[in-house]
This record gives sequence, structure tokens and C-alpha cells, in this order.
Amino acid sequence: MKKLIAGNWKMNGLAAAAAEIEALGAKLTEADRAKADVLVCPPATLVSVLEPKARAAGIALGGQDCHEKECGAHTGCISAEMLADAGATYVIVGHSERRADFGETDAAVKAKAEAAQRAGLMPIVCVGETRDEREAGRAEAVVRGQLEGSLPEGEFVVAYEPVWAIGTGLVPEEADIAAMHRLMREVAGPGVRLLYGGSVKPANAKAILGLDDVDGALVGGASLKAEDFYGIISAA
Ligand code: PGA
Repeated sequence: MKKLIAGNWKMNGLAAAAAEIEALGAKLTEADRAKADVLVCPPATLVSVLEPKARAAGIALGGQDCHEKECGAHTGCISAEMLADAGATYVIVGHSERRADFGETDAAVKAKAEAAQRAGLMPIVCVGETRDEREAGRAEAVVRGQLEGSLPEGEFVVAYEPVWAIGTGLVPEEADIAAMHRLMREVAGPGVRLLYGGSVKPANAKAILGLDDVDGALVGGASLKAEDFYGIISAA
């Protein structure tokens, strides 16, 4: 399967960040593009700003969240249709920061994933256990439950992001990543792209991306600078 290397800029980036998209586009070779699809999920305010440069560079754009409804009285929210209209083709749903900060349940995440599909966006559904859950030996049960509760029918991407590995520099043992991806393959089925996320850096990307059933990466901090993000893309 062709890899998907996705950057999640989180709440980082002003209009000047267009320079990073341009710089990344300048580094990408034909061989890179043949091996990996490249996606950047900037803050929603930047999707239409970055769209011309991203299109020219062959880089896809995505949102970081969407509302389940198409429109209406939901102050401050952004619909999947709005993201698509701005030039996005993907949207992340159920990131652990949204699950933790906004109390998003599996059912809410599934509704958002379905909204993404309705708007013609590819949802990237995030799952992952906390440190306590892993230490209690419950990681696989927790992730299985999240998958069963949040995956829609139809087409989607899944990202396994252990909460304790996000932004910490900690990464699970390779055997643990592989085991979780085996489980995700069993639940999600063949043909579904399964990403790993959590402290992916240029230095560890090759080993992680070389594991069975790891079809790409969801990258936070290391996606903000074109040089680091390119280091991960070229490892694919
Ligand atoms: P990180 O974030 O790469 O900074 O650990 C990953 C994510 O939250 O998607």
C-alpha cells in the first residue's frame, strides 16, 4: 500500500507558514511522491490560504476536526462541507486532544467521520490508549473498543496514537506497535490505511514505517518544519 504521511499542525501556524509548504514542495522528488502521499492538516483558518501552494506542490490538505452537521446554529464550529469548500480532502476526527479536552465520545467521533464522508472528505479516525490503560494491560481492549465505537462504514483511515507517546518523545516498543496494527487490520479490514502517530521523528520514522501493517504516520511537532517533515517522508 502507498504510504500516507500526514502532518497535524494542531493550533500552530499563521499565514506566513505558507513558506513551509513551498519549502516542502521544493524538496519532494518524483520518487518521494511515488512512495508516499503527503498531507498537511493546518488550522482551519489556513486551509484556503495554503491551498494554491499546496496544490502546486502536490500536497493534500486536511482539517483537524469537523462538526457532524452540515450547517446551522453551532457557534465556533466548522463543518466538513466548509473544509471541503476551502480545499481540504481529509479531516482528522477523534484526536486524543479532542477526546480529552472536549469530551468527544466514540459515538461523536463516528458521527464526525460520517460527516466527513458525506462531504467527500477522507476521515482519519484516531484511537489510542493512555499510559494507565497500557500499564494495566488494557491497551488492546481499549483500542478495540474505540475502533468498534468510532469507525464508520465505507472508506476511512485509522491512526493509532498512544496518548502517552504524543508530544513526549516516547514511542512504544516496535513489537507493541506491530501488535496494535495487527489488531487494527483485523478490525478495519484489508485496504484500510493504518497510520502510527506519537513522537514520530526523522530518526525513528524508517523503523516505524517498516513495520507490518504500518501504512503511514500522523506527525505533530515534526511536521511544522519542512526539513523535519521531509526527513519523515523520505524515510517512507
Ligand atoms: P507528535 O503528535 O508527533 O507531536 O507526538 C502526534 C499527534 O498528536 O498527531
